[in-house]
Amino acid sequence: MVHDKPLLAVLKGERRDPPPAWMMRQAGRYLPEYRKVRATAPDFIAFCLDPEKAAEVTLQPIRRFGFDGAIVFADILLIPMTLGRRVWFEKGEGPKLDPLAMSDVDSLTIGDAETRLGPVGETLSRVRAALPHETTLIGFAGAPWTVATYMIEGGGSKDRLQSRAAAWREPERFDRLLDLLATATARYLVMQARSGADALKIFDSWAEGLPEPLFERVVIAPTKAIVDQVRAAGVTVPIIGFPKGAGTHYARYAAETGIDAIALDHGLDPVWADAALPQGMPVQGQLDPSALFAGGEALDSEIARILAAWKNRPHIFNLGHGISPDVPVAHVERLLECVRGKAGA
Ligand code: CP3
Repeated sequence: MVHDKPLLAVLKGERRDPPPAWMMRQAGRYLPEYRKVRATAPDFIAFCLDPEKAAEVTLQPIRRFGFDGAIVFADILLIPMTLGRRVWFEKGEGPKLDPLAMSDVDSLTIGDAETRLGPVGETLSRVRAALPHETTLIGFAGAPWTVATYMIEGGGSKDRLQSRAAAWREPERFDRLLDLLATATARYLVMQARSGADALKIFDSWAEGLPEPLFERVVIAPTKAIVDQVRAAGVTVPIIGFPKGAGTHYARYAAETGIDAIALDHGLDPVWADAALPQGMPVQGQLDPSALFAGGEALDSEIARILAAWKNRPHIFNLGHGISPDVPVAHVERLLECVRGKAGA
């Protein structure tokens, strides 16, 4: 018997009313049960590579809220590790990496992402076996540009100045870095699909603020390379692209990368987007995480606005970026009541 998975159906182009819903960073610190498991795992990377713990925290938000999608618990910064770079997380400071100089690029080799990140495949298999049949399982990776910025800057950065300068100054080396990342990432995503992911998502969290020629080179081309390689390996599951902050470049990204569905950030005008995106392409988003944090009237009316804006497209309800750690659980419950049409006035 084929079980109906509403989120997967929307990714394949069906409209559902009410729309299926999940949240970026739904496994995370706003959940007391997550914090409890996290406290037993002092090293964040080791936590991501511990299938038992990672499967448990992936399932927590499904058990508590019944979201339509589960996203495997892992991180976009596992890939630089497979290229031989050191990655670590400092409490309260976010990710750190040994900064990559452009002269280091020539000696980088594609490690064996499928094997090194085999534990993520094991997490997916475990989650698959424990999930309700109707829940869609999502695998993911970072896009080459976003991952490269973390590698070059040695962590998060306000304006990615070193990375952008390197892309202009040393285009060949820079493109070689993106190529290596695209190949490693494609193999990793293929492994995730073979381990049970129903859909894949590519996070380009730092796609904002790029002029057209750079957007084409560092965002569109490497994303297309990933999609082409995943398809060449025979994997047919839907791929969601998320070029966060891309503004009007969203239109070209959606039309040219080969992705099947697109995640929209909260800054994008839905009227513009509906006219500019390929007809019928499923969209996901677009609630401002700060409206979820605020709660109350603002949350209710923002949800209503987004539902109305996307009522004529296949739409998956989600945030425009990840949930912040201090959001009350009651606001997430309210979000689902509103989206599913069960909210009292
Ligand atoms: O529930 C889920 O969304 C699944 C798991 C997931 C994590 N990271 C777990 C995580 C996913 C999909 C990611 C993606 C990710 N990681 C992105 C792209 C999405 C985005 O937010 O733009 C990026 C840029 C990263 C890199 C990263 N990992 C940063 C910047 C941080 C620190 C930020 C913070 O909130 O502290 C992380 C750590 C991280 N990854 C946490 C979680 C739950 C918090 C760490 C903790 O529990 O201590």
